[in-house]
Amino acid sequence: CLWVRNFRLKKRLPGPFAWPVVGNAMQLGQMPHLTFAKLAKKYGNVYQIKLGCNNIVVLNGEATIRKALLQHSTEFAGRPNFTSFQSVSGGNGMTFNSYSKEWRIHRKIAQSTIRAFSSANNENKKAFEMHIVAEAMDLVQTFLKLSSNGQYFNPSHELTVAAANVICALCFGKRYGHDEQEFRTLLTRIDKFGETVGAGSLVDVMPWLQSFPNPVRSGFQSFKEINKEFFTFVKNKVIQHRETYNPNVTRDMSDAIIGVIDKADSHTGLTEAHTEGTVADLIGAGLDTVSTAMHWVLLLLAKHPDIQSKLQEDIDRVIGRERLPSIEDKNNLDYLNAFIYETMRYTSFVPVTIPHSTTCDVIIEGLFIPKDTVVFINQWSVNYDPEKWKDPHVFNPSRFLDENGILDKSLTSNVMIFSIGKRRCIGDQIAKVEIFLFTVILLQQFTIEKDPSQDLSLHCSYGLSLKPLNYKIHAKLRGAHLLVKT
Ligand code: HEM
Repeated sequence: CLWVRNFRLKKRLPGPFAWPVVGNAMQLGQMPHLTFAKLAKKYGNVYQIKLGCNNIVVLNGEATIRKALLQHSTEFAGRPNFTSFQSVSGGNGMTFNSYSKEWRIHRKIAQSTIRAFSSANNENKKAFEMHIVAEAMDLVQTFLKLSSNGQYFNPSHELTVAAANVICALCFGKRYGHDEQEFRTLLTRIDKFGETVGAGSLVDVMPWLQSFPNPVRSGFQSFKEINKEFFTFVKNKVIQHRETYNPNVTRDMSDAIIGVIDKADSHTGLTEAHTEGTVADLIGAGLDTVSTAMHWVLLLLAKHPDIQSKLQEDIDRVIGRERLPSIEDKNNLDYLNAFIYETMRYTSFVPVTIPHSTTCDVIIEGLFIPKDTVVFINQWSVNYDPEKWKDPHVFNPSRFLDENGILDKSLTSNVMIFSIGKRRCIGDQIAKVEIFLFTVILLQQFTIEKDPSQDLSLHCSYGLSLKPLNYKIHAKLRGAHLLVKT
């Protein structure tokens, strides 16, 4: 409309000078979220950069991000039309597809399926908890084996398998164990996924990089192969479910999604391909994030033995050593909850959300952003805002406790890692339950110790999630023997 056009003439988006061809690609550095925060100091919380020939708007700071994603929720709910996004979940998932009427139905189906299998009623809540506890106990056994004879080990792969098993148990009614080779091989390569779809990846903004051999091109080729293999694995399982589907018995989330998408009247605009896409989305989103969170949890426990002892004291007092922890213990373990929130804030391990795009022209903070602009949302800037957090660079779980040691919920809600608005993570509740139970069970059984020959650094690799670099721990049994019964 006229006033938007007039506005456009007056206010240009601020931002750094962009070089021809590459734009600002060479300035992003190893950790683009830190560069974005630095640029915000110079240009304000809304500014524009250029990657290749794409204009990209970067949003920083809690107030600006809230205004954009909550007050202009529909305008910022799109996803860019990136080539890499079309390789994910056979192109028919919900996560990487843009905003539309069909997408809204799709998201609702995925969201209510997760709720139905994790929290809708007591029976399902308990079944979900049992899956996690069983998986955590399996992890305990594996850690014990890997720590035998005083050995140190890298927990990375076992954590990925454990998180994958929880989401596979929900989706397929079956876990795959730590020894199933086909599944394990697939998982060894899955952590490469985030490097291509994370904000700042060059695959989609410089298509000419695909025309001659270079690391971006080979990275993209293996990204496509991993996606194809992973999607084929999921699709085959969904097809098996379809063949044995009984409308009177919903065995797991795949059956539930088959029930609402395949068997529904066609007016939803969704097809069988979307059923497979949805299941692939949930497994993909559910395994890498939770395992990365646990990776950081173990690293921070090993790095802060004083905090670890305090957590164990609380667990011994509230739960003791005669029974296994349960989700009901969560409300009585404030320091542990504070530790988990501080781990999420301090590591900000999903520093920038999956890229968004604008669904129509929009004005934010007095600045005009045209329809179909790619938008990066810098969650890290919220978690490290010095106005909000005292000494943000210090790891201090107690910052979330009041003077009586009670968790301050108004502070925990300021941590931004699951995003907000129409694209907010739909797995946040199940992720929190998983992280709580894995952490409390490991801490009840073990003391996590660092390898004295290695410096435990916080260096990490950048992608959709930040992953700690190779580190080793030893899991030292706390009691004379393992607890095995609930
Ligand atoms: C999206 C974080 C676990 C399912 C997202 C996004 C973030 C995120 C930042 C992108 C939001 C945006 O683009 O604005 C996390 C973190 C997790 C976690 C930190 C663990 C600690 C899970 C789990 C599931 C899940 C366990 C499901 C099983 C999804 C889905 C989306 C999503 C389906 C796409 C939503 C959409 O595009 O509308 N998550 N997530 N996530 N997450 Fe999670």
